[in-house]
Amino acid sequence: MESEPKATILVVEDDAGMQKVLALGLKKMQYQVALASNGKQALDLLEAGDLDPDVVLMDIRMPVMTGLQALPRVRELVPMSPVIMLTAFGDLDTGLDAMKKGAFDYLVKPSSLEKIRETIEKALGYRAILQEKAQEERRKEQYRLDLERRVESTYQELGSIYGRLREMNLQTAHALAEAVEAKDRYTKGHCERVRWISERIGHFLGLADDEIEQLEYAALLHDIGKIGIPDSILLKRRDLDERERQIMRMHPIIGAQILSTVQTFARAAAAVRHHHERWDGQGYPEGARGEEIDRLARIISLADTFDAMVTSRPYRQGIPVEQALRKLHELRGSQFSPEVVDAFFSSGLIDEYVGLFHDSLVKPDTITPDDQKR
Ligand SMILES: [Fe+2]
Repeated sequence: MESEPKATILVVEDDAGMQKVLALGLKKMQYQVALASNGKQALDLLEAGDLDPDVVLMDIRMPVMTGLQALPRVRELVPMSPVIMLTAFGDLDTGLDAMKKGAFDYLVKPSSLEKIRETIEKALGYRAILQEKAQEERRKEQYRLDLERRVESTYQELGSIYGRLREMNLQTAHALAEAVEAKDRYTKGHCERVRWISERIGHFLGLADDEIEQLEYAALLHDIGKIGIPDSILLKRRDLDERERQIMRMHPIIGAQILSTVQTFARAAAAVRHHHERWDGQGYPEGARGEEIDRLARIISLADTFDAMVTSRPYRQGIPVEQALRKLHELRGSQFSPEVVDAFFSSGLIDEYVGLFHDSLVKPDTITPDDQKR
């Protein structure tokens, strides 16, 4: 029974007699044999891509293209196939030179078939090592790619969890804000509009994402402390006496206390505490001034006041947007941080705000003197 052919040997030899001897001998050893008569022919065969020899047996001295000339390109085309050079007796230097240029070994002609078999087997062993190494490299590369994919998908998963969490926190903040607004149904939508304006200013000022997030919570919840103000004062709306005013002015502190107990809103708590402070130090509850005032609070303060100016409540008439904008200019550097006023006007948010919340705004033909006592 004939065993499976072991490997394919490409024999590159110009001498027809020698080519025949080699071919017969190799076939006897169960190798498959491909033939070429010079370096050029061998390259044509390999470049055509039809042949993937396990070992190349190549004469050095050949017409058209010598083995040494063909060697570098053969190495490029079939880098896993060791090349054994055939050199004439007395031309050992050329054989050594070929090895320096990438040949696996060389045989001196004439060599016994046994010697040829031995050298081919060594070359095949070397090829097996090269292939194993290449496979190992591919496995490593695959592993690296898998790992990258896993990291990427974990990253995306975390991103979406974070997104959902943020969404839930915002929903919670909305729900709490609505609880405050429910006490005073005429302020409905105010907190969301304050959040909208604040977020736009925050982005314009280049705040980091996590700061914007806290800014949004704080904007939505800036009046959460009103939960702690008795309805008799909260709903009285006007003509508060001094004691009642003092109680009313507690709402930033109460709000900050409520929020500071929830880790998610801890940063927002500081902003809520300062949302009635003024740049010139005339605000409350601390009378903090300038940079002492929480930066997020400076934004919310302007957003809160502007939205309150341009929307009417039953107990006080709002003013048209144009008039409110003039007031903001006037209050730059006294009530409001100059940086925030400038961002408000430069960010292009005003037109968008008017477009989005048109229905809530005071119409220009209803101008009456306003009272902004609160
Ligand atoms: Fe407030």
